[in-house]
Amino acid sequence: CSNNSLVNIAHVYRGTFVHSTYNTALEILEDRLLGVDADGKIAFIESGREVDSLSQKWGFEASAVTHLGQHEFFMPGMVDTHIHASQYSFAGTALDMPLLQWLKKYTFPEEARFKDLGFASNVYTHVVKRTLRNGTTTACYFATIHTDASLLLGQIANDFGQRALVGKVCMDRNSFLREYKETLEESQQETTRFIGELLRKRYPLVRPVVTPRFAPSCSAMLLDHLGEIAQNNHLHIQSHISETKEEVKLVKELFPDCSSYTDVYHKHNLLTDKTVMAHGCHLTDEELKLFRETGASIAHCPNSNISLCSGMLDVRRVLNKEVKLGLGTDVAGGYSPSMLDAVRKTLATSKALTILNPEYQTLTFEEVFRLATLGGSQALSLDEQTGNFEVGKDFDALRVNTSVVGGPIDLIIHGEEPKVLLEKFLNLGDDRNIVEVYVAGRRVVPFVEKP
Ligand code: GUN
Ligand code: FE
Repeated sequence: CSNNSLVNIAHVYRGTFVHSTYNTALEILEDRLLGVDADGKIAFIESGREVDSLSQKWGFEASAVTHLGQHEFFMPGMVDTHIHASQYSFAGTALDMPLLQWLKKYTFPEEARFKDLGFASNVYTHVVKRTLRNGTTTACYFATIHTDASLLLGQIANDFGQRALVGKVCMDRNSFLREYKETLEESQQETTRFIGELLRKRYPLVRPVVTPRFAPSCSAMLLDHLGEIAQNNHLHIQSHISETKEEVKLVKELFPDCSSYTDVYHKHNLLTDKTVMAHGCHLTDEELKLFRETGASIAHCPNSNISLCSGMLDVRRVLNKEVKLGLGTDVAGGYSPSMLDAVRKTLATSKALTILNPEYQTLTFEEVFRLATLGGSQALSLDEQTGNFEVGKDFDALRVNTSVVGGPIDLIIHGEEPKVLLEKFLNLGDDRNIVEVYVAGRRVVPFVEKP
């Protein structure tokens, strides 16, 4: 009785699956059978006890099913909604000054080096491989102002099978550096070239994202133009907003006709339901309302917010205002490229806010798990394709083995339940526990070395 004969099942996995839904922050599905079709999409997720009837219905061999071990589970791949691929090389250093000085002293000089394609290729290969190994199946990248190096980042993400949004950075003022600036015309022309060339590659999982660095680096004319390009091509948009108080003050001076920082982007048509803005630590209620109305989202980057002493985003307030929110590492303002670190710093920031106000409703680990997976996909408007184990979505998944020895403690002491194992993994695990990574059904970790 094969009513699914047109669907070709490529892989079937049996074991525990943990994920989030729109209604439930953490759903634990024990002894499930999950089938992935030849296009990498989830074809079914059913009770493992039905293996015989399912194998008949879907036409797969029961002997070909991959069985997870007792201490293993699948979780959705993590979504890094904000990472500077070009800052990876100095991650873990240079965190001794506030944002605007940090940009001038450390960041722009390092980004200038990506003019050299050999240099770019080396750094970008490290970033893509390492973030995949850390369990980042989707990354929203800032590259640099250099078009060819940014295209190379897209190619490398495609080569290693990572789902990625890639942005050529635009900045036509206030770079403070002769060797790292572009004119208005260059920025416009090169953005058009970047988008055209990247789209022509037809990489299945890699998309361009329109990337004004942030309002202080962009003239009003450039912002206007970028808003237009994004609108005409239905593209994603990313930038920074309201990260530090000093920056908010600067934006007020630079754009005296705008009522707020958010209004600057809104006036230039840069706030859409495909926009993700990093930080937002100091947004007003009115600004958050604009986010909700436009469908724009926030990338919460807690490591960076603490490391550069920028501020503490009140995630609970953002969620209560029904603004979409995902997590970001913000390398190198954030020193860690691991989304597990972003999870931990999100929880720590929420607890710091609770110390300041004991009435505060602290985020739970289940909620933060959702932000790292489904929440990130929603923030990037990719949740029709990815974010959890819903039938029809791409299979983006991490195979987590909590019995691997590594990290500061043994995760398993006495036969813990899956929920406990997930919590321990999120708080204490690392990439050694991520034994396999899948993007769109394809196993991308361990890496298959090219012949
Ligand atoms: N604002 C503008 N550029 C940057 C950057 O590279 N990192 C961070 N954290 N904030 C920014
Ligand atoms: Fe950033």
